[in-house]
Amino acid sequence: MKVIQYPKEIQKLVNDIRKTDQTIGFVPTMGYLHQGHISLINAARKQCDQVVLSIFVNPTQFGPNEDLSIYPNDLPKDLEMAKQAGVNIVFTPTKKDLYGENYQTFINLTQLPNCLCGLSRPTHFQGVATIVTKLFNIVKPHLAFFGEKDYQQLAVIRQMVTDLNMDISIVGCPIVREKDGLAMSSRNVFLSDKQRQTALNLYKILLDTQEKVSSGKTNANELIQEAQDLILTLPETKIDYIKICNKDTLADISKITGACLMALAVHVGKTRLIDNMILQ
Ligand code: PAJ
Repeated sequence: MKVIQYPKEIQKLVNDIRKTDQTIGFVPTMGYLHQGHISLINAARKQCDQVVLSIFVNPTQFGPNEDLSIYPNDLPKDLEMAKQAGVNIVFTPTKKDLYGENYQTFINLTQLPNCLCGLSRPTHFQGVATIVTKLFNIVKPHLAFFGEKDYQQLAVIRQMVTDLNMDISIVGCPIVREKDGLAMSSRNVFLSDKQRQTALNLYKILLDTQEKVSSGKTNANELIQEAQDLILTLPETKIDYIKICNKDTLADISKITGACLMALAVHVGKTRLIDNMILQ
């Protein structure tokens, strides 16, 4: 497994790989790897000849009062996990390597960021779209793998790739959960045992709602209200949003008529957690 810091160096390497007609699968991450990340690597390994993993905590996607300064990292462990998982190339740039002095170019989408996480994190998706574009230009993948855990991010990337005619196939991969149902996240490390127990209710709420839909409930506002009422009984929680929306446009819906997205973001203590489920 090669570990490369500099964009120019990895560009040369991927150009050579492309000349040999091998396909490049790309998994962008912010590191502190867990089985959710590994599932993307496994999918990439199955579908591509060469797998490139990037590890970069992207400052432009964090707001001023967010957790950039405490975002967890453990590069030696990440590299070990990446190697075990069969990654061929790891890209580990620094902030200076990607955002030099006088940096001034950003990618903005006009609609998809204006809901869900984008409301409380107004510059987040600009930061994501920008870094992903930069990484795509550096790694030049044929396929890129993203988790459905960050559902809105996946929608934003798909839209951007379509809008900007990027010649890259975006592959969405299912949410990987702990045995007890908690969606895996690098941020789970911040949760105390008690907070973790509280956090389990997010998945339970999604499952409960699915059950209610299966038994014939279709009023989205009532379902959301019931979910909110439950969270209000839990200690140390603050709701950012609970929404039921169109799974493609992410626009709110009032009546469930077919497959739709239930998405939520809840602070447990100081940690903001997100989860989602397609309701059928
Ligand atoms: P990060 O949070 O490290 O996640 C990297 C990738 O792993 C994303 O595509 C995310 O959706 C996926 N992922 C995280 N937890 C998952 C889980 N439990 N199950 C399945 N997939 C999961 O998302 C980012 O980094 C950044 O925004 C990035 C795209 C790298 C741009 O900076």
